[in-house]
Amino acid sequence: MPLKVAILVSGRGSNMASILEAIKEKRLDAQVSVVFSNNPEAPALSTARKFGVRTESLSHRGMSRREHEERVVEILSRYEFDFVVLAGYMRVLTPLFLEAFKSGSKKIPSEYKQLTLEPQLIVKTKAEGDVTATSFFRVINIHPSLLPAFPGAHAYEDAFNYGVRLSGITVHLVDEKVDHGAILAQETFVRLENDDLESFKARGLALEHKMLPQVLQDISRRGISILPFKRGDGSAEEVLSEAKAGRMPALPGSEAGEPPALPVPSAVSELAEASAISGSGAGEPTAQ
Ligand code: GAR
Repeated sequence: MPLKVAILVSGRGSNMASILEAIKEKRLDAQVSVVFSNNPEAPALSTARKFGVRTESLSHRGMSRREHEERVVEILSRYEFDFVVLAGYMRVLTPLFLEAFKSGSKKIPSEYKQLTLEPQLIVKTKAEGDVTATSFFRVINIHPSLLPAFPGAHAYEDAFNYGVRLSGITVHLVDEKVDHGAILAQETFVRLENDDLESFKARGLALEHKMLPQVLQDISRRGISILPFKRGDGSAEEVLSEAKAGRMPALPGSEAGEPPALPVPSAVSELAEASAISGSGAGEPTAQ
């Protein structure tokens, strides 16, 4: 049973195309149920149709964020999928949207129960064995920086103008904060001395196109796994014991006991055998 995804886009759609190409070339065992855009003019929509994928759009202009999100959830609920993939979707998502895609949510039909592997969130720990947490949002984002550095809508520009020698790409689960959440994969690329912004971006984009289909293929094969992490308001041990108890620590400002999104991991699943590394961060609320 292939992994089913809905892809949300706002513009060009090259990451979306990388997923569709990978499916076509059988590098990715997935199915794109729908491509949605908040921009009815997005070139991504016509590209998706060329691949024979159904498209939907609804401009956010002239309506409140709440109304737009409600209507997008309603549109998406007509389709069956396991994950929402944000591939250059330049809208901040609020809990209203995210809650509709919480793991275990009944609103979105999931094929996962029919898969051998449940898409559990496995917090890897060397000492304690794997711990399973079940509450997370089934929403994945790709961001062109080494998060938590350079969140926001202009990450390539911000990193380049800062003068970084090394940058990277992050694929992560989405939580209530912007460009924030459990890291599924993170890879680096170098800035060369004679790079201009365009060549820097092009190197990063090529990496994006490699990573996103790979992450989805990993999920379709093995589910999701992340490493433990250290939050600003708690320790890795705290997170571990909370996860074992079947809950996550409350986010600052949220109600205790509420299952929030995932806490912030600090390393990718490939490093599962390595010891835990700490890290956390949040960006300005701009765009995913
Ligand atoms: C990509 O570089 C993606 O990482 C970025 O937008 C671009 C979309 O390009 N996303 C973000 O900055 C999210 N904060 P695409 O439409 O060609 O895939």
